[in-house]
Amino acid sequence: MHDFKYSDGELFCENVALARIAAEVGTPVYVYSRHTLTDHYHLLEDAFSGFPSLICYSIKANSNRSVITLLANEGAGADIVSGGELWRALRAGVPPEKIVYAGIGKKAGEMVSALEAGILMFNVESLTELETLNQVAGEIGKVADIALRVNPDVDPDTHPYIATGLKEAKFGINIEQALAIYERADSLPNIRIVGVHQHIGSQITSVEPFQDSLSKLKELLSALQDRGFDIRFINIGGGFGIPYHQEEVPRPSDYAEALGPILKETGCQVILEIGRMIVGNAGVLMTEVLYRKQTGDKGFLVVDAAMNDLIRPSLYGSFHELLPLTRTDAREEIMDVVGPVCESGDFLARDRAIPRLEPGDLLAVMSAGAYSFAMSSNYNSRPRAAEVMVDGSEYRVVRDRESYEDLVRGEHEWE
Ligand code: LLP
Repeated sequence: MHDFKYSDGELFCENVALARIAAEVGTPVYVYSRHTLTDHYHLLEDAFSGFPSLICYSIKANSNRSVITLLANEGAGADIVSGGELWRALRAGVPPEKIVYAGIGKKAGEMVSALEAGILMFNVESLTELETLNQVAGEIGKVADIALRVNPDVDPDTHPYIATGLKEAKFGINIEQALAIYERADSLPNIRIVGVHQHIGSQITSVEPFQDSLSKLKELLSALQDRGFDIRFINIGGGFGIPYHQEEVPRPSDYAEALGPILKETGCQVILEIGRMIVGNAGVLMTEVLYRKQTGDKGFLVVDAAMNDLIRPSLYGSFHELLPLTRTDAREEIMDVVGPVCESGDFLARDRAIPRLEPGDLLAVMSAGAYSFAMSSNYNSRPRAAEVMVDGSEYRVVRDRESYEDLVRGEHEWE
């Protein structure tokens, strides 16, 4: 479900023709639908309304201030993984008591900022991190509320780079060691245990990996409760997959139905850390065709967006649907759609059947709301794209296109 649709042969975001945005703001440009964002958030909220739950929007997916503020205004908290994300979340108006902080490499200074802000909890990923947190909290006279991020060793059946819950992953604490580390945490004066956490991977397209991991987590929880630990929160992480290519994926209500009974039995408040499912299909990247080119047997469409704007195809081989802004019945041809960056790995699509397009034509790269602008860079000294948000018949630039001056900000000459 999203708000990017053709009307009279022109692709719209809500009630705004994308071609209008391209003409007025230029390309490449990211466009987000406010309605899709709130709609996805409410689908999740409604699905999990049967038990006490908190949805922490995973800021890493799309950290534009307007996106975070919009979701915070709808009631979302935030899942953060760095001091920068903490700063962004607070600045965008997320209440600190709705912020959870994961990540395997939290630095002492970042811990101090989070403790001073009064976040809901740290998701601690190792014994050494736990001990550092205890020390840092002690030094500033605070007590840190924590969950341990437990690695349940399940296979989420997704791209290896985004599977995080397998034994060999760098994330979390091996479930066999968790009990001992909870006991250690209990003995530390500046640590208060409040929850258990898992995050098993991203773009997961079935409920089973969650069922498997939760039944393991549930065992741990019972063992903890038997020992008298007061565990109030169970954080099941994020990872709900989205359709990139018309594939069937579970809806939030399917997850709630499948996981509800086991979650209810825990008696805990449920935390979800969802990124992609909220923002992924709420955004597109618009790009203009610059050239057509043929080398040997291969046809190329050179467009003005590149791997620095959207790295997912290059990094994970991800599929993003490409839609011409103006519908055409031109015959389809098989093309590589590539950007101007000087790397053979710079492509948005390979061997893609696409209606014949000419220089000057515009394309929407679909499902580009999550891990898209957020992972962009300035490689090849390309200013990062503008970001636009649409609301009904209006739109606003919510991040300016970068200038050449932005490219050198902070650089110093040394002759
Ligand atoms: N919680 C934690 C601790 C995470 O590490 C992540 C994502 C999430 C929640 C949110 O997961 P989501 O609901 O968005 O699946 N760049 C990759 C995805 C990396 C995901 C990293 N962690 C991509 O473009 O597919």
